[in-house]
Amino acid sequence: MRRIGVLVSGRGSNLQALLDAESRGELSGQIVVVISNKIQAFALERARKVGVQAILITKSEFPDRQNFDEQIAEVLRSYKVDLVVLAGYMRMFTEQFIIEFQDRIINVHPSLLPAFKGVKAQWQAIEYGAKVSGCSTHFVTFDMDAGPIIMQKAVPIFPDDTGETLSKRILPEEHRILVKSVRLFCEDKLRIEGRNVIVKE
Ligand code: GRF
Repeated sequence: MRRIGVLVSGRGSNLQALLDAESRGELSGQIVVVISNKIQAFALERARKVGVQAILITKSEFPDRQNFDEQIAEVLRSYKVDLVVLAGYMRMFTEQFIIEFQDRIINVHPSLLPAFKGVKAQWQAIEYGAKVSGCSTHFVTFDMDAGPIIMQKAVPIFPDDTGETLSKRILPEEHRILVKSVRLFCEDKLRIEGRNVIVKE
């Protein structure tokens, strides 16, 4: 069984989707630790509620990003994590962290990448006048929201949409593709070939 560490910064609905899938036996992996960089993250409570180790590591405790990421890496190592899932984790990693966990970090992003990278992607899509947006899961590389794409799901944008209404439409799709991507990884069904992720179903 693959061991999963989930990194969060906020409300944790994607984490919840993973926990629920695990409890139904649909994840093919075990969430062994949840790490938050924000003290107020509700995701921490979601983890504790089901008895998963929930650890707070804030940037302010460390002199620089290197030391901060090293502490996160140390915790992930100590839990013998095979896969790192970013479920609403709102920080960039140092290169050293990404090298250590290369091809083993999955992120979920609320746009059809490569469009609308970075924060507030749903608001960016509306501002741009896009008629379709959606969500993507991808492996994490050095550049933000730019690694090989695993899965995507398109969602329509309606004329009266706001960032909030679009976010609400995208979120359940994020939950689905994230759970599915993690399951495929845990079942060893994802192969990265350059920019391309091949799914062996
Ligand atoms: C999601 O939209 C995720 O794609 C983005 O931040 C949001 C986190 O939501 N990066 P939650 O904390 O999983 O509820």
